Amino acid sequence: MASKLILVTGASSGIGAATAKHYGAAGAKVLLLARNRDRLEAVASDIRASDGSASPYAIDLADADAVTEVSAEITADHGAPDVLINNAGTGRWLSILNTTPEEARAMMDVPYFAAFYVSRAFLPAMVARRSGRIACITSPAGYLAWADACAYIAARHAMKGFAEAMRADLKGTGVSVTLVVLGTVETPYWEHNPGSREHLPATNPRLLPTLTPDQAASAIVDGVERRRRTVIKPGIFRAIFIANALFPTFVARQLRKKG
Ligand SMILES: NC(=O)c1ccc[n+]([C@@H]2O[C@H](COP(=O)([O-])OP(=O)(O)OC[C@H]3O[C@@H](n4cnc5c(N)ncnc54)[C@H](OP(=O)(O)O)[C@@H]3O)[C@@H](O)[C@H]2O)c1
Repeated sequence: MASKLILVTGASSGIGAATAKHYGAAGAKVLLLARNRDRLEAVASDIRASDGSASPYAIDLADADAVTEVSAEITADHGAPDVLINNAGTGRWLSILNTTPEEARAMMDVPYFAAFYVSRAFLPAMVARRSGRIACITSPAGYLAWADACAYIAARHAMKGFAEAMRADLKGTGVSVTLVVLGTVETPYWEHNPGSREHLPATNPRLLPTLTPDQAASAIVDGVERRRRTVIKPGIFRAIFIANALFPTFVARQLRKKG
């Protein structure tokens, strides 16, 4: 890991910050991208305190021109990353009736378009080098649909489709794509997107335990390291996705029960 260059989007908080720290502690050089400069600096100092190396880049990833600029700056400063983690994401869980068109578009901007812009910016160099690993982080909302999270669910389906289509495009290039599907993770997401937690479907906590940011980060790092196509954590979601494909009415009924 010592010679690796890792780029993490959404590195100022939650899953992204934990993932950046995992890579930093393993000796990688970590590039941290998000909007909030102070929070990025705090994550960077934690990584430096553990003898890692970190460079923060404050950027709004919804802005395609800003991504072009920052990727040129990163390439000049460090070269193209070995590993790119598309993790930045936002969005309140609301029914379509309570979602404005602006908010729906913002949820497509980040995570989906942000992941597209950042991947598109670095892929030519990765493909020319014939090496690279890209991870896209999504949630069970990329496979299932429940009430009161309409634009969020649509955006996470977009992330899943993007990761799978990009993998098909990159076959044989030496660049792998890992889709990471995480159940509920206890992060500031729930404060950043008020009203969302109330719309979580009811689950049995023994079957579907809430993950810590560290557990989520370990799953991401391990899946990328092994070049896994898809990482699903907790793994029981794999059975739920199969059940949804076979018995959609039954699963929809279960998802109507609120947590
Ligand atoms: N928490 C969960 O239960 C869970 C489960 C499965 C999947 N996920 C997904 O994992 C991803 C990360 O979630 P999290 O729980 O770590 O949430 P979080 O703590 O709210 O972190 C979100 C990160 O995205 C960044 N971000 C948001 N909008 C951005 C923008 N326009 N430009 C640049 N960066 C932006 C935020 O940084 P700034 O505000 O500094 O820009 C922050 O670093 C999301 O896509 C989420 O849907 C979360």
